[in-house]
Amino acid sequence: MILGILKEPALESRVAMAPGSIAALEKLKIGKILVETGAGLAAYFNDQTYTDKGAIISDRASILKEAHLILCIHPLENSELEQLSPSQALLGQFNPLQNTDFVEALLNKNLSAFSLDTIPRTTRAQAMDVLSSMATASGYQAILRAATLLPRFFPMFMTAAGTIKPAKVLILGAGVAGLQAIATARRLGGVVEAFDVRSAAKEEVLSLGAKFVEVEGAVEDKSAGGYAIEQTDDFKKRQAALIQTHCKQSDVVICTAQIPGRRAPLLIEKATVEAMKPGSVIVDLAASTGGNCEVTENGKTIQYHQVNIIGESNLPASIPSDTSNMYSKNIINFLKILLKDGEVEYNFEDDLITGTCIAHQGNIHSERVKRVMTAKA
Ligand code: NAI
Repeated sequence: MILGILKEPALESRVAMAPGSIAALEKLKIGKILVETGAGLAAYFNDQTYTDKGAIISDRASILKEAHLILCIHPLENSELEQLSPSQALLGQFNPLQNTDFVEALLNKNLSAFSLDTIPRTTRAQAMDVLSSMATASGYQAILRAATLLPRFFPMFMTAAGTIKPAKVLILGAGVAGLQAIATARRLGGVVEAFDVRSAAKEEVLSLGAKFVEVEGAVEDKSAGGYAIEQTDDFKKRQAALIQTHCKQSDVVICTAQIPGRRAPLLIEKATVEAMKPGSVIVDLAASTGGNCEVTENGKTIQYHQVNIIGESNLPASIPSDTSNMYSKNIINFLKILLKDGEVEYNFEDDLITGTCIAHQGNIHSERVKRVMTAKA
């Protein structure tokens, strides 16, 4: 089999396969590994680091034509999908629950694709979970960005010029990104509290040394695979009031709350931002799915009523060497179950293959993607 590794679009600095993982690919009996010229440059991996490991540097058109399995992060343009044939497969992080047009395009052209961001949240899938890897990076970076913009120190200082109080940090959503943000904020000396609608999050928040902010009456659904679900209007009202009280006291608010396939819950209203301390910082990691804060602008850092609001949605790209390495390891672990004797095997008995297969021979196999596409039709 020929495996192709593409260079990502201009604003992305990660690469789907770092040179450090090429040796692991060879162990999977892959015949030839083609890497697009300059694919790893933005992540500080030059072409020679790939050729040193036995890969071949090639041009994009040849990879699209020859590779049986193509690794990337972002979806390909329609014009490039036109160049592929049904015998090829794509493997990436295609955001199919939001980007339904891409799924449609794959189906129309009878192409095959696996999207690792829809892998089920099971123990077996943990080592392949790109969402967790990238959320770890986002949570960490969110605190560093906030600390840089904050006009105050993070830790407590006792100096000859007086005592500096530690920064107060509020984390909305204690999933993977939120927990990493808690840990990073604590390492910097911040005083942290966190809020989530899943009761299981409480123990994790407390174990990291943060306080858990609770609103009674959250609804949970065990069949949602560990994810949060939409809350009732009454709950949302009480939640908004409590969040406002806590936001007013905070120096930094990190928003991470998401509901797969839906708009992110709106947790910070405009009026709450207006009531926050001048100079405080909100980092909205849910910006690309609508934002948890009403005034967030996706992809931008803005100031509203002297509060800085960071809406950058691709923070993993700002630490591209490590995030590319993590993504690569997730891919390798997935290939261990996807490939048999060095070829792609469409084994729909395996829930991880079914859960990630967003198109094959005109069918969607991922139930979650199927549901979103049906609801849209
Ligand atoms: P996510 O990115 O979908 O959401 C982030 C957090 O926001 C979640 O904790 C969610 O409960 C919370 N949230 C959603 N709506 C909210 C609201 N209205 N108010 C406050 N908080 C709200 O979540 P993520 O980080 O991807 O993790 C979701 C779950 O999956 C967690 O239980 C995590 O432990 C689990 N997980 C399991 C894995 C596995 O077993 N392979 C891998 C990664 C995560």
